[in-house]
Amino acid sequence: MPRVYFDNAATTPISEVALQAFIEQSRQVGNPSSLHTYGRTARKDLEEAREKLAELIGAHSTEVIFTGSGTEANNLAIKGIYWQRKSEDSRKKVIVISGFEHHAVLDPANWLVEFDGAEIVQIPVSRDGFIDLEKLAAILVDRKDEIALVSVMHSNNEVGSIQPIKEISALAKRFDVPVHTDAVQSFGKTPLNFKDLEVFAMTLSAHKIGGPVGVGALVLKKGVDITPILHGGGQERDIRSGTLNAAGIVSFVAASQSAIRDLTTNAQKVESLRAKLISAIQEQIPDATLNGVMQGEVLPGIANISFPNTESDSLLVLFDAEGIACSTGSACSAGVQEASHVLLAMGRTEKEARASLRFSLGTTNTEADIEYLRTCIKRVIERARAAYSVSQ
Ligand SMILES: Cc1ncc(COP(=O)(O)O)c(C=O)c1O
Repeated sequence: MPRVYFDNAATTPISEVALQAFIEQSRQVGNPSSLHTYGRTARKDLEEAREKLAELIGAHSTEVIFTGSGTEANNLAIKGIYWQRKSEDSRKKVIVISGFEHHAVLDPANWLVEFDGAEIVQIPVSRDGFIDLEKLAAILVDRKDEIALVSVMHSNNEVGSIQPIKEISALAKRFDVPVHTDAVQSFGKTPLNFKDLEVFAMTLSAHKIGGPVGVGALVLKKGVDITPILHGGGQERDIRSGTLNAAGIVSFVAASQSAIRDLTTNAQKVESLRAKLISAIQEQIPDATLNGVMQGEVLPGIANISFPNTESDSLLVLFDAEGIACSTGSACSAGVQEASHVLLAMGRTEKEARASLRFSLGTTNTEADIEYLRTCIKRVIERARAAYSVSQ
């Protein structure tokens, strides 16, 4: 049985260049903070990697703070900016986020509500998956003196819609409000430039672009302070203590270089596979509908589809039995029997949200993968519908 991986938004296979870079760097001993030759050599490799990454994303090298994951970078941004702003002005307790952020943004914000007196104000999201800029402008006008930060993801991990971050920054700038963007899904898939976006902070993660798991970065404007969430050795501008993961970072940057170098060709290839996947599904299952937009401001590889009268959990298992890996949404919430908060924010009913699957394509997918899906999807949907009708 063929095996097809359509879950690249959850994690990607590590690329050969990233793997080799990881192995090579791992062979070298030396804490980058040590002053002897071993340490200085590791530091040099790491700083070269930092400079390369900064150049790829249009940032200054001092703006790159390496972290242990995208989740950590998001926590650092949300809590760190909130605490810093609140310490400067005790009224600043409002966190403005979109209704369909990843849990790595939603949950630290909710945690601050529960334990630190924060208030969340959500920016509504359209049926197509885009935030409402007019509503954001109204929130900024209404609550300007109380807003600690605005955080809106660069692109959504379940439906792929790319948000108007530049416009968001321009709006927030008028009120002196810092903007954070979670760019984990966008980096390496669609052009991304820290300086052009004019954001205060931006989150990246290595394992969505062929890099290793457990490496991320918070790109944070030069010269600004945020409150650290990890305390210790004072690494990374004293904002993120902890021995630097030289092998992981060098490998992340190797993956980033190849993703950015090949961005246009990869995006064209993946975009065309996505179009073929959607048409194969609609040809076999005429009542299947796409959540999000077909083209335009959308990531090349994500297709979220609703299959009426099915349950996504059983779809997932049935596809898996055919050798096809896909997802009910964010990998972090997979396994929890909840309707996707992303699709609910986009105005879908619980029933519709529970009947949806995300197929996320990457550079290692081929036309043969789509053809294989075409051969088994009808069978999968029929079985899922039979199981669904029994459960009703
Ligand atoms: C939009 C988004 N943000 C953050 C994360 C978390 O990144 P990491 O897996 O590096 O913690 C993910 C991963 O699923 C994601 O899709």
